[in-house]
Amino acid sequence: MAVATGKKLDARALRADFPIFEQLIHGRPLAYLDSANSSQKPRQVLDAMTEFYETSYANVHRAVHVLGERATAGLEGARDKVRRFLNARDGREVIFVRNATEGLNLVAYSWGGNNLGPGDAVVVTELEHHSNFVPWQYVARRNGADFLMLPIDENGDPDLSTLDDIARDHTVKVVATNLVSNSLGTIADLGPLVRWAHDHGAIFVCDAAQAAPHMRVDAQALDCDFLAISGHKMCGPSGIGALWGRGELLRSMEPFLLGGHMISSVRYEKTTWGELPHKFEAGTSPIAEAVGLGAAIDYLEAAGPEAIEAHEHELAAYALGRLGEVPGITLYGPPADRRAGVVSFNLEGIHPHDVAQILDRSGVAIRAGHHCCQPLMHKLGVAATNRASFYLYTVPEEIDQLVDGLYTVRKVFA
Ligand SMILES: Cc1ncc(COP(=O)(O)O)c(C=O)c1O
Repeated sequence: MAVATGKKLDARALRADFPIFEQLIHGRPLAYLDSANSSQKPRQVLDAMTEFYETSYANVHRAVHVLGERATAGLEGARDKVRRFLNARDGREVIFVRNATEGLNLVAYSWGGNNLGPGDAVVVTELEHHSNFVPWQYVARRNGADFLMLPIDENGDPDLSTLDDIARDHTVKVVATNLVSNSLGTIADLGPLVRWAHDHGAIFVCDAAQAAPHMRVDAQALDCDFLAISGHKMCGPSGIGALWGRGELLRSMEPFLLGGHMISSVRYEKTTWGELPHKFEAGTSPIAEAVGLGAAIDYLEAAGPEAIEAHEHELAAYALGRLGEVPGITLYGPPADRRAGVVSFNLEGIHPHDVAQILDRSGVAIRAGHHCCQPLMHKLGVAATNRASFYLYTVPEEIDQLVDGLYTVRKVFA
């Protein structure tokens, strides 16, 4: 296992853990610069899942046989790893969901659906991913509450100057923002907004889908009320994410999905709900996926979230410098020290999809599109951008391959 690194991350050594890099794409080494979309998986995660399926798989909680016990231990062990990873106090506050989107919908429907009404407001920012925007917009309006968006200022940060006006006209019940923007990479300073939300009696919902893979995320230090992550963005499998929430809030909420496992008793006259976390985990859990997420967390902890963040700042600085040399390029977002490993850009006169398609021919994988951030694209005055994103296995040569590819793109369109 190559993850016994010291303080500074050794991306080259880590890269050897990822089988996906053992192939050529269109005859070229793979420059995978799409990790903000979904990350690659190390052998440690793949092996943990295979071993679990080969030796310990059964359904959880319901079986009294050995395999059922092993599988339950695997799922609950993973829950405790998530708890420690997020520095949550109690594993019962960690709900397994399919992904961050489902976690945020759970809060919007189960908390928002029962606590929002006319005169209330939900506040989000212009930087949100649709997953932390659309559920709030929908539930707020369905309940007759207002849905308000803080615009971003010239530095790309949410403009907090209108907050007090908002509070004068509304009872603000929810403030929901991301910790790291998937489109610009901006690392938010959430402190002032969290304090403001709590001072005004609102809950604070943190979308940590992009933060958890790239930096230390401490739910207690952030002082948020709910926080959502996705396993597939942090070296884990797809199909699993986690929602952390304050126990007293989760206990007070109605369930989100109903059916097997989430009940205490079912009678024709009345059904009662199970305890946390089961109340929010209807149906068969993503069992092997949880084991994979647990292995991914072990992997990230061994590499060190602080070392991952520092590595990404270095790569972002290198990328901003190298990309800045390309004629006709527009770079979006903050300086490297305030961003995770994400660089969005456009080449003058060339549609991002064309850029991405031509880059693919030279083995470079980036994302082109609106990145599920249409309000932000609207603000930037573009329909789409290209986005290169980096992770713990990214090496500077991949950024060089991207820059070389962009010169080829320019030649094709010359
Ligand atoms: C900031 C942010 N929030 C939420 C999501 C949604 O994640 P998922 O599609 O895994 O639910 C993403 C995915 O790109 C994201 O970047």
